[in-house]
Amino acid sequence: MKLLNFGSLNIDYVYEVEHFVSPGETLSSKALFVNCGGKGLNQSIAAAKAGNMVYHGAFVGKGGEALAEKLAENGVDVTLLKTAEENCGHAIIQVDQRGQNCILLYGGTNRCFTKEYINRALDQFGREGLVLLQNETNLVKYMIGEAHKRGLQIAFNAAPMHPEVLEYPLELLDWLIVNEVEGRQIAGCAHDEEILPALRSKYPKINILLTLGSKGALCYAKGKTYKIGCYDVEVVDTTGAGDTFTGYFLYGVLHGMSIPQSLLLATTASTLAIGKKGAADAVPFMPQVEKALQENRFGPLAAEKIS
Ligand SMILES: Nc1ncnc2c1ncn2[C@@H]1O[C@H](COP(=O)(O)OP(=O)(O)O)[C@@H](O)[C@H]1O
Ligand SMILES: [Mg+2]
Repeated sequence: MKLLNFGSLNIDYVYEVEHFVSPGETLSSKALFVNCGGKGLNQSIAAAKAGNMVYHGAFVGKGGEALAEKLAENGVDVTLLKTAEENCGHAIIQVDQRGQNCILLYGGTNRCFTKEYINRALDQFGREGLVLLQNETNLVKYMIGEAHKRGLQIAFNAAPMHPEVLEYPLELLDWLIVNEVEGRQIAGCAHDEEILPALRSKYPKINILLTLGSKGALCYAKGKTYKIGCYDVEVVDTTGAGDTFTGYFLYGVLHGMSIPQSLLLATTASTLAIGKKGAADAVPFMPQVEKALQENRFGPLAAEKIS
């Protein structure tokens, strides 16, 4: 089954500095790394590396030409992308000697989605498949409504969290995907073990995937709750762990795997991703995940530490 991701595309400029630049100061940086990023791009690439047929829907702004190339070279269909005059979404990230960062974000074309573009892209995509959304683009509420009208499945990852999310018609989703931070805010609770029950009573009809970092993940689907722990491994970089989980989990549920099988697949993929630096580039390909599973490479799953 195919998947359409209306998702953000960012160029990340990462500057290594002695200290964060102060008001009035001109500071030379020691190094610059330019990476393709954005939650949308990371999730499209993760879903494509898992083996899904992925169409990415977005505007590519000025300076963002590398973003379309990055998607295409990872197997994402880019025929729905449109170019725009506005600057592309980007982040200016200072990283100091202690590894702390401060980030200046510019939404650019990620905030320039129009109703006309969304309708046209959905019409081209057709009436079968899943629409994947995150919260870095504008018009998310509209995207949910239009995808629902067309009878498409919808998965929404509420990241980054914003109070506006509470006004979205989340009851129309097939899948709500959150980590503990987003989950607590949507559920309105303080403790991790309260998140899933609170989300279930707020949105009783939808399926929920809740990832909990080093505590594993929980899932509520078709009236049942499932839990999975995680592997005890050395962590290199957790950036993109959740995006990898989403891409692989959706592969499982869209290809007839059971929920426990889908959770195991996604956990194994995320474990491989956190062993490497970077986001989209650290996402493994399906054969690597299958091999790790066959070899039982990471040993036993630690029991989930929630509840
Ligand atoms: N420190 C860790 N040790 C082992 N597994 C981890 C760790 N952090 C993340 N994972 C794996 O990645 C998944 C997603 O991570 P999480 O931090 O919940 O997502 P996000 O990136 O959205 O915050 C977890 O459910 C788990 O399987
Ligand atoms: Mg996390």
